[in-house]
Amino acid sequence: EMAMPMDELPRYVEECFSLKERYRGQIDVRVGLEGDYIEGWETEIHAIIERYPWDYVIGSVHFLGEWDITDFRQTHHWEGKDILEVYRQYYDAVSKAAATGMYDIMGHTDVIKRFGFVPSTEQTEERISLENAALQAIAKSGCAMELNASGLSKPCAEMFPSRRMLTEAIRLGIPLTMGSDAHDPMKLGEYLPEAEALLHELGCTEVAVFEGRHRSFIPLNV
Ligand SMILES: [Fe+2]
Repeated sequence: EMAMPMDELPRYVEECFSLKERYRGQIDVRVGLEGDYIEGWETEIHAIIERYPWDYVIGSVHFLGEWDITDFRQTHHWEGKDILEVYRQYYDAVSKAAATGMYDIMGHTDVIKRFGFVPSTEQTEERISLENAALQAIAKSGCAMELNASGLSKPCAEMFPSRRMLTEAIRLGIPLTMGSDAHDPMKLGEYLPEAEALLHELGCTEVAVFEGRHRSFIPLNV
């Protein structure tokens, strides 16, 4: 229920590319893939990415081992765990994902906070250094990062990434994109005005867009 079964992928791609052709000149359709990053599965992931002529590929960490940290049905895995240690594993995976060079955009970079499990206030400094190390890995890789507005409707009640991380990303010169991570046609574009306003407030004047995996920038309309 969280993602597309692999055997539906060819049909999804075929439908998207036929819509791109059908509405050419009326609606600018860009076809993307949100690809998981799971350590040890790089060859398989690379093969899926190479199979189709994507406009862009988002790299996201959902899994730590077999635990999908974004699935509300799996939050019991947090029980008895050292939260900071989970954050360490998560941000290590984000850094490794960026370093693969397989992705155009890193997705929902601090989604580990989604269900409100956060390290204690005494551990804030270490949490910030984990976040910053991941941002530095993204900056070094040259890929962009999304501002994913869907976090506003999740238990964490803030976008992915946080305002602090976003400020740091802008300071590091990481190109940014915006997304609503809709999962549902009714949520298409949800909270994008809020995302745009936040970027504007932080002094960001343009966002990255992709076609045929080539990046360009468009000005923010605020
Ligand atoms: Fe995702």
